[in-house]
Amino acid sequence: MKVTVVGAGAVGASCAEYIAMKNFASDIILLDIKENFAEGKAMDLMQTASLNGFDTRISGSTNDYSKTANSDIAVVTSGIPRKPGMTREELIGINSGIVKSVAQQLVAVSPNVILIIVSNPMDTMTYLTHKVTGLPKNRIIGMGGALDSARFKYRLSEALDCPVSDVDGMVIGGHSDKGMIPLTRLATRNSVRVSEFISEERLDKVLSDTKVGGATLTSMLGTSAWYAPGAAVSSLVHAIACDQKKIFPCSTMLEGEYGLNDICIGVPVVLGANGIEKIVEIRLSDSEMNSLKESAKSVTITNNLLADIN
Ligand code: 2OP
Repeated sequence: MKVTVVGAGAVGASCAEYIAMKNFASDIILLDIKENFAEGKAMDLMQTASLNGFDTRISGSTNDYSKTANSDIAVVTSGIPRKPGMTREELIGINSGIVKSVAQQLVAVSPNVILIIVSNPMDTMTYLTHKVTGLPKNRIIGMGGALDSARFKYRLSEALDCPVSDVDGMVIGGHSDKGMIPLTRLATRNSVRVSEFISEERLDKVLSDTKVGGATLTSMLGTSAWYAPGAAVSSLVHAIACDQKKIFPCSTMLEGEYGLNDICIGVPVVLGANGIEKIVEIRLSDSEMNSLKESAKSVTITNNLLADIN
């Protein structure tokens, strides 16, 4: 199993580290445009192998895509991260050109690759990747919901004063501060609805804290977060590499599911060896469905900007 990670910045490097630590991939290629940067990160990570007990080989490359040839999975983290006060949507001008060129170069040498898009604005970058590569929809996956759901579970565990492993919850919709939809109605603590344990007001706070999860960290760190994004990507890569058939909310091209068409947005999917093996249509309440439609409207507005950029 060969996995390429494009972009050796904080998110890319943490993603490579978590994939290596899980010890299921034979090779990770870390690629960056900055001379020797990916090689340095790869060497540093390899020097943790004996300490952390993994056998995955990690190597770096300065923009040489031939090193990524025949990758099974490639993760695209390239582009600029947001700065405090910025929305993910504001990155579209710079990141769309980068993601387009990276995706095309990856597919040219790895025609069977499964692409995982992390660069922001993620739903629009996933949509762009469809348009510029023409890969089948099961092989293009946008990473947002897995991260947002991890942040939701963290906030739920805080509110419930219990371990994160005791809670379950999912975030669907666009990967944006306003567009994400934490499904509080369906969240559980050990199979019991969380509304049995905490007030509606507290649950509303969980919801609003989750939605600004990325922005909160960006203002604290001065740049966007990397540990949870890296861990979320590694879970998706793991599910595909080991054909786990796990459900994650991911941004995927919809063709009528949830009443939406020609848009990539976060909904539950089954991930296995073929990438997105199934889009799971869960029954949403009227208000959840309205939120999904609103979220889709704003993703479409961002998608429409692509026409003026590319
Ligand atoms: C986030 O931290 C990377 O979009 C990203 O939310």
